[in-house]
Amino acid sequence: MKIAILGGTGEQGPGLALRWAKAGEEVIVGSRQKEKGEKVAIELNQELGQELIRGTDNVTAAAAADIIVLTVPYSAHIGTLESVKEQCKGKIFVDVSVPLDPDNARRTIMPEVGSASEEAQQVLGPDVKVVCALQNISAHLLRDINATIDCDVLVCGDKDARPTVMQLINKIGGGIKAVSAGPLEAARQIEPITALLIRLNILNKVHSAGIRITGLPEK
Ligand SMILES: NC(=O)c1ccc[n+]([C@@H]2O[C@H](COP(=O)([O-])OP(=O)(O)OC[C@H]3O[C@@H](n4cnc5c(N)ncnc54)[C@H](OP(=O)(O)O)[C@@H]3O)[C@@H](O)[C@H]2O)c1
Repeated sequence: MKIAILGGTGEQGPGLALRWAKAGEEVIVGSRQKEKGEKVAIELNQELGQELIRGTDNVTAAAAADIIVLTVPYSAHIGTLESVKEQCKGKIFVDVSVPLDPDNARRTIMPEVGSASEEAQQVLGPDVKVVCALQNISAHLLRDINATIDCDVLVCGDKDARPTVMQLINKIGGGIKAVSAGPLEAARQIEPITALLIRLNILNKVHSAGIRITGLPEK
């Protein structure tokens, strides 16, 4: 699987890139600027001690990938989606975006359609398999490739693509477990959990709050 991480140069993207590359996946870091994508890929490869990650611009990354992961701030959500719409056709698209209130990250301002992931589906069209995932993992823990990440990742969206994305999430390692939350509509509940985790991080002066779901049958 070739995975493109659009906006993979920021907080959330590099940890995913490092961990998936380490697990044997082919990763391309995307940026608005090709040179910035290349520079971040070089830095990540230095950390891995191997040339496993490629960097380029978002459009080229999306065109080359089988699975496209979006990690940009919500203010850039629709603009970035529109810029790669053509390149996403027929592919799996994983939206990590959270529509945080720009004035207070302890809250979300949900889009009219219900959630950022449903908005992605609306912009990209019905032939893109949109999956909502990875909103509830701390970028801080992800970025330390040796850190334990004691948390579940709720995954909802396209029922054919969901198992593939869940397998990919289980490859992140560190104790992360993917939990299916059904259709894309569940993103309306999943995305705001991030605002709650930010609130808990602030209250406890940490960067590591996460969730575990209990009481479900073992799969
Ligand atoms: N950070 C976390 O702990 C965390 C946890 C869970 C979910 N999330 C969600 O994941 C998403 C990414 O978070 P993040 O913290 O990684 O964001 P970030 O570091 O602020 O930004 C990620 C990348 O997005 C691109 N970007 C920034 N502004 C842009 C704009 N106006 N237009 C287009 N691209 C722009 C930049 O890449 P280029 O300059 O290279 O284009 C930047 O490196 C957000 O929706 C966030 O809510 C974050």
